[in-house]
Amino acid sequence: MNLYPLIRPWLFSMDAETAHHFTLNSLKRTHDWGLSSLIRPSVINKTSNLCGIAIPNRVGLAAGLDKDGKYIDALADLGFGFIEIGTVTPLAQPGNPLPRMFRLPHAQALINRMGFNNDGVLACVDRVKQSRFYKNGGVIGLNIGKNAQTPIEEAVNDYLIGLRTVYPVASYITVNISSPNTKNLRALQSGDDLDHLLASLAKEKQILRQQYQKSCPLLLKIAPDLDDEQIDHISKLLIRYEIDGVIATNTTISREKVAGLKYSEETGGLSGQPVFEASNRVIRVLNQHLRQQIPIIGVGGILNGADAKAKINAGAHCVQVYTGLIYKGPQLIADCTLALSQA
Ligand code: FNR
Repeated sequence: MNLYPLIRPWLFSMDAETAHHFTLNSLKRTHDWGLSSLIRPSVINKTSNLCGIAIPNRVGLAAGLDKDGKYIDALADLGFGFIEIGTVTPLAQPGNPLPRMFRLPHAQALINRMGFNNDGVLACVDRVKQSRFYKNGGVIGLNIGKNAQTPIEEAVNDYLIGLRTVYPVASYITVNISSPNTKNLRALQSGDDLDHLLASLAKEKQILRQQYQKSCPLLLKIAPDLDDEQIDHISKLLIRYEIDGVIATNTTISREKVAGLKYSEETGGLSGQPVFEASNRVIRVLNQHLRQQIPIIGVGGILNGADAKAKINAGAHCVQVYTGLIYKGPQLIADCTLALSQA
């Protein structure tokens, strides 16, 4: 039963972050009471794989919705093929002052400047281990970032700490260098900084593979605001360092598509419908360079099944959703799995 259209006006009457916590806690309670089947949409599973890992369907949860792994089982009950947790940083940090999340309903969009609020990587790993989804072999991506207090010149250390800590439990690891809400983070996407970061992570991954006798794919998450030359540079490094996958994209700093709307001038990353085309462009350019050698996860502005299919047509292998869930509810997952089962 799709109750979300009935509940949405009430949720939208609350401040965006309050509604976020309320919804996730309600989902958790529904799960704890064994009532998830009442809200689970009719997902169509068609087994596929993500960087060599079997997944029941190609629709995943994007990072940022469950930053600390507090809701893994409740979210898994909605039928996602895989779930990405984080971004987590080496140390716990509060993120930016409130308010830091804004709805732009006319554009089916959000602006956020959360700033990696999280309980720290260790707390997250503990929660992952305790989840039933993990114990049952569900696919969980762990998304790692740097602390706000760490100077950008020392960012590599934070990513290495994250990599070592999540490696034993993660199905895959996402290196997030594309959030606009941590000062200078996006600079890591360019030039020698990216070369140094990927070289260090690839080297450490070999050591961890030996240590844990387990190969854990490493993915890079990039921004929609990159030009073709930057995407070309990134693609070359992905191939050189044998990075396993790329997630395109994070939120945009552009406001072109939302000019004049309430909250459009708020600082932060814009997600949802206005980022759809920009993300698709990045996927297309990546695909021209990578030619299926390295899988692309397409994310940004998926609001219905046709949008998910457009990501696949642009060159993505799987998709993830976040903002679309706020506007469409869990039915979006079913709509996307149906569209992709025919793709
Ligand atoms: C995000 N996103 C995000 N991404 C990431 O790698 N780490 C994070 O911590 C967060 N946090 C976050 C918070 C909020 C409130 C939003 C809306 C988004 C980005 C997200 O995973 C996704 O890449 C973009 O939002 C684009 O997809 P959608 O939302 O348009 O489907």
